[in-house]
Amino acid sequence: MSQLPRIVVLATGGTIAGASANPASSARYQAATVPVATLLAAVPALQSVARIEAEQVAQVDSKDMVFSLWSALADRVQYWCGQPDVAGIVITHGTDTLEETAMFLHLTQACAVPVVLTAAMRPSTSLSADGPLNLLDSVRVAAHADARGKGVLVVLNQQVHAARDVAKAHTSAVDAFVSAQCGPLGYVQDDLVRIARAPVRTATGVLPVPEQWPDVEIVASYAQPGRVAVDAMVGTGVRGLVVAAAGNGSVHETLVAALRDAAAAGVAVVRSSRTGAGHVAIPPAADPVDGVFVSAADLNPYKARVLLLLALAREPGLAAAPDRLQALFASA
Ligand code: SIN
Repeated sequence: MSQLPRIVVLATGGTIAGASANPASSARYQAATVPVATLLAAVPALQSVARIEAEQVAQVDSKDMVFSLWSALADRVQYWCGQPDVAGIVITHGTDTLEETAMFLHLTQACAVPVVLTAAMRPSTSLSADGPLNLLDSVRVAAHADARGKGVLVVLNQQVHAARDVAKAHTSAVDAFVSAQCGPLGYVQDDLVRIARAPVRTATGVLPVPEQWPDVEIVASYAQPGRVAVDAMVGTGVRGLVVAAAGNGSVHETLVAALRDAAAAGVAVVRSSRTGAGHVAIPPAADPVDGVFVSAADLNPYKARVLLLLALAREPGLAAAPDRLQALFASA
């Protein structure tokens, strides 16, 4: 009889590892308390899908994500990817910043086997916890041949998403994760894993994990914004700014003035949209106003920030070459 595939589960915390004294409540609980061994033991069906090995890489509420944990996670992904008999890696994570960690791994990891992030909207003690099925489905996807070569994946609520595209779009619903622009890649229905299409942007491993992380922040455009935040951040040495702009990248004139000054001071400025979907138009490079503001393409502000962080870490002088930065945003 052939052996089951070997899957490694890297646990980082989140609501999937959350617990509450009141099973009827999905909103009041402590995230990141249940050890990964307990989570796995709660899903006996895993034993017929894979040989599982688990590591508790961290135990955090993902709202408190930090770069050092991203680096540690990248190290563990690289280590396990290098083991010849590992068929796939599953990462359990909090939902709140999962889209950022997914983007970070999408941009930094070149792994031959599937790397799948999963999470849960309800704690493990909830009357109708979604974590156990999400965990099982993630292992099923990680072990599936069709998941190879599709870049980093995210599996929740029976859907398979590309890490680059997926975002959390609801505060509490179990179908909180959407790939608003292009839709999911596939789905899981019991033991059927159906990957219906392949993402073109499987640009994994294009950027190194930084040794030093530059200061890159997000500002928003809205009715009558002040420029004090931008000026203060430039004053404290920010290297990059992502604007959560209105509509198709529109920025209030007050903020435009502040951002032009920031760009003149050597800060990379990237315009994303606060709408949640769509592509921010790429300005002509020669445009005297917008030419120095790079379009985030269809990346939301949080994902755009991850790309800008990694790009500036690799090449601190990139702010002076907005055309090259634009090319990176158009392709990553
Ligand atoms: C977290 O992001 O760690 C808490 C919230 C969640 O996982 O849903």
